[in-house]
Amino acid sequence: MTPAELMLRRYAAQGLAAEAGRIALDYFGRRESLGVTMKGTQDWLTVADGAVEDFLRARLSALFPGDTVIGEEGGGEASDAVWILDPIDGTANFAHGDRNWCISIGFLLDRQPTIGIVSAPSLGELYVAQRDEGATLNGQHIVVSGADDISRACIELGWSPRIPSQRYLDMISRGYAAGCSIKRAGSGTLGLCNVANGRTEGYAELHINAWDVAAGIVIVSEAGGWVSDFFAGDGISKGNPILCCVPALASQLSDITGIT
Ligand code: IPD
Ligand code: CA
Ligand code: CA
Ligand code: CA
Repeated sequence: MTPAELMLRRYAAQGLAAEAGRIALDYFGRRESLGVTMKGTQDWLTVADGAVEDFLRARLSALFPGDTVIGEEGGGEASDAVWILDPIDGTANFAHGDRNWCISIGFLLDRQPTIGIVSAPSLGELYVAQRDEGATLNGQHIVVSGADDISRACIELGWSPRIPSQRYLDMISRGYAAGCSIKRAGSGTLGLCNVANGRTEGYAELHINAWDVAAGIVIVSEAGGWVSDFFAGDGISKGNPILCCVPALASQLSDITGIT
C-alpha cells in the first residue's frame, strides 16, 4: 500500500469517527431509548452499539472495497488490510450515563497495527495515530509520562468474567505491595489512550479482544509506550492479555501483572 493510500485511510477514518461520535452522542443524550440488553454477565449492549457499527461498516466498505472489516457486534474476517472496530467501548459506562466511553477504529496492514483513531465525543477528545507518524490528541502531539518510580505510578486494570477473579485479586495484591495506585475506569481503549497522554503509567488486562485495543496500540506505541505482543498467535480472532506502560516500568509491571 502506498503512503498516499494509507494517508487517505487515516483521514477517512478520522472523519468517520467524528460522524460516528455524533450518532453515539445523540443516543447518549436519550438514555430512556438506549434499548439496553445483556449479552452475558456485565456484557452490555445498546441500540447505539449496532447503529454505530452499521454506519462505520457501510462507509468503510464503500470507501475501501478491497479491505475487510471486523467489528465487535457483527464479526468479520481478517485480511492483509483489515479494519477492526469497537462501535462503543465502555458500553456499561455509556448505559449508566458515565462519559468515559469511546469509538475505536483500528487498521492493520499485513497484520501490523498501522492506524488508530479513537473518538471520545462526550469528553471532547479525538486521538489519531499512524505507525511512524506519531500520535495526537485533538491535534496536539502526545507522549507517555516520564515516571520511573513504581511507588508513584498510577496503573489502570480492566477485567471481565472471561478470567477467574482470583488472578486479578493476586495482581492487585502485588501492585498494592509495590506501592502502585490502581484504578478501573471501564473502557479498555481509553485505558490505553490514557497511558499515551501521560494520565496513567500503565494499563493491564488478562484477556481483551482485538476491537478493544487495535487502535489504542497504535496510539500508545506512537506516544512512546511499551506494549506487549497482543497480536501474537490468534490475537486478532481470540484476543490475548495486554500490558502497555511507560518503558521504564515495563519490567516491574510485567512481574506484577504476569504479562510479558
Ligand atoms: C469492555 C471494556 C472494558 C474491558 C472489557 C471490554 P465493551 O468493552 O473495554 O473496560 O475491561 O474487557 O470487553 O464491552 O465496553 O466494548
Ligand atoms: Ca462488549
Ligand atoms: Ca470494547
Ligand atoms: Ca463494544
